[in-house]
Formats: sequence, structure tokens, C-alpha cells
Amino acid sequence: MNKQQLLTDYAGAEVLVTGGAGFVGSNLVKELVKHNAHVTVLDDLFTGDLSNLKNLKIKKFIKGDVRDEALMKKIVVNFDYIFHLAARNIIVSTKNPLEDFAVNIGGTLNILNNLKRSKRLQKFIYTSSVSIYGNTRYLPINEDDSYNLLSPYAVSKLGGENYARVFYENFDLPTVVVRYSNVYGIFQSTANPYCGVVGKIIDRIHNDKRPVIHGDGEQTRDFTYIQDAVDATLLAGISDKSVGEVFNIGTGIEISINNLVKNINEIMGKDILPEYIDRRDIDNIRRRVLNIEKIRRVLRWSPQFTLRKGLSETIEWYKTI
Ligand SMILES: NC(=O)c1ccc[n+]([C@@H]2O[C@H](COP(=O)([O-])OP(=O)(O)OC[C@H]3O[C@@H](n4cnc5c(N)ncnc54)[C@H](O)[C@@H]3O)[C@@H](O)[C@H]2O)c1
Repeated sequence: MNKQQLLTDYAGAEVLVTGGAGFVGSNLVKELVKHNAHVTVLDDLFTGDLSNLKNLKIKKFIKGDVRDEALMKKIVVNFDYIFHLAARNIIVSTKNPLEDFAVNIGGTLNILNNLKRSKRLQKFIYTSSVSIYGNTRYLPINEDDSYNLLSPYAVSKLGGENYARVFYENFDLPTVVVRYSNVYGIFQSTANPYCGVVGKIIDRIHNDKRPVIHGDGEQTRDFTYIQDAVDATLLAGISDKSVGEVFNIGTGIEISINNLVKNINEIMGKDILPEYIDRRDIDNIRRRVLNIEKIRRVLRWSPQFTLRKGLSETIEWYKTI
């Protein structure tokens, strides 16, 4: 499967992207528009920003909430593809688990339940998270390894996945789940307090401040560049082989936070030492790296961006904002 196929499959399709004004969503919308899809974005602008969609030829923007039953009833049956990204993030979820439950589980169920009436749905794509694996016993992590739910966010993201799966099993809805691992890159606003660790480190080093690291910096993550995450998600959307499946999206490469800082320093031509502070309570995982063989094999997708290349692109973009 290649990019040419994406061009033809999404051309003219009616596509809904929930959370499309956010970081991953807006990058996904950009690519869909490039492929001539008719894109509607639904977002309550909780963390999303309309400026992310500036100059993009989308069909419609709806400022709305996935919890809104009447709204979902009215709109979801009108689409060929629904990319469901709207969610409360891990920090907000931990502060307010009830709201997290209502949005991340309730909102997902609200869409799926209304999709039972759809006569045109090609695929519902649910964006989940590696958070559901928690601290695993074995690495790299496979899709069918056991869960270790350590936050309300992990519970709710898995809840959304389970509903996507059950609506496939019970109602024949064509659903697929992708599990992202630490996505970073352009349009990940560093002004947003919830932005990932990559944006935070770039911001500090750029401003000649010491990046702040929780713990000793030897904890590892699997960092995925945004373009790779978007391409994999789009492939999951059009592939016949993805229905009812779950795919890890990552790189299969384990990078420590200290190594990340070193790379960012080198690319930016600086040498600023981190400041180490107490370990954080949220997402306090020692090692994480994904096995991505399933998506390689089934969807013929593999990451195209090395950490160095992805960081360079991100830093170039950062200098323009
Ligand atoms: N960025 C990552 O590293 C990462 C990792 C794992 C999973 N994910 C998942 O990917 C998706 C996108 O994440 P992101 O990093 O772009 O975050 P983001 O916060 O930038 O995007 C989420 C978007 O959803 C919108 N939203 C939130 N609640 C809503 C509601 N009730 N109704 C309508 N819109 C709502 C927000 O305004 C925002 O635009 C999320 O589902 C997230 O769980 C992201």
C-alpha cells in the first residue's frame, strides 16, 4: 500500500475528524485535504486551536462536543470515514476522572451508537494510546500483551477501544483501533501545558533554559513523528484488512529522555544540561517500546522518520512560530 492509493481512496470521500483542531487531528486533516477528501472537523476547542486549520480547505468546522447526543445523531450518519480523536488528555483526565469518563468513553459510545443507522460508513478509526499497557513485563510490547491500567486516561482510552471492538462484533460496524506512542512534531503547541516532552525540551533549550526532567532521565519511550502517525492512521482507514483490528503505531526504537535531550542539543547547536527533579506521578513508566511488526505485515506501513529527522523537522517548524 502506498501514498498513491490514499490519494484515490480518500478523494471525494466525506470524512469527519473529531478533535481535528488538535495536534494530531489538524495534521491528519491537512493530509486528507491534500488527498481531496471533503473534511468536516468537529471540535469543542478544549485544547484544540482553530489557527491549526488556518488556510486549509475544509468543508465545514463544527464547534461541538462529542457528548452532545442530538448533534451526534444528526451528523455521524453522513460520513464515509470517521477519525475519532477528540479526547481529554492524561493530565486533565487525572484531575477530573468523571469528565474523562464522559468524554473519552461516553463520547465514543455516543458516536458508535448513532453509527448503527449509517448506510455509508466505510471505517470508524479510533485513536488509542500506549498508556493502556502501563508498566509491562516484556519489551517490545505486542498488541495482545496484557493491560496495566495506571491512570483514568488509560481506563477511558481502553474503554473507547472496547466499544469500537464490540460494535464491530455485535453490529458489524467497520471499526479499527490504532494505538499511538508519544507522537511529536509540527503543530504540537509548546504553549499548551499538555504538550509532550519533545516540545517542552525544544522550548527550554531554544530559550537557553535547562530542560526539566522527572527522575534520572534513563526512562525510555518510543517517539513517533507526526507524519508517520498520520500516514499509518490513513492506511488503517482505507485497508480492508484493518477491520476489527488493533495496531501499535510507533517506531520499535527505545530512546531515553537523556538521549532525547542530547539529540535536541546537537541539532540546535547547544549544550545545555538538564535539571533533574522528582519523578512524576502520572505516566511514571520506566521503559516503553512497541513491537510494530503487525502493522508492517498487515498494512505494509513502516516509519519513515528517524528520531534525528523528525526532531530536525520539528525544530525547524518551532523556529517559525
Ligand atoms: N499525542 C500523542 O502522543 C498521543 C498518544 C496517544 C494517543 N493519542 C490520542 O490521539 C488523539 C489526539 O491527541 P492529540 O495529541 O492531538 O491531543 P489534542 O489535545 O491536541 O487533541 C484533542 C482534540 O480533541 C478536542 N476535544 C477534546 N474533548 C472534546 C469533546 N468533548 N468534543 C469535541 N472535541 C473535543 C480538543 O479540543 C482537541 O482539539 C487523542 O484521542 C489522544 O488520546 C495521542
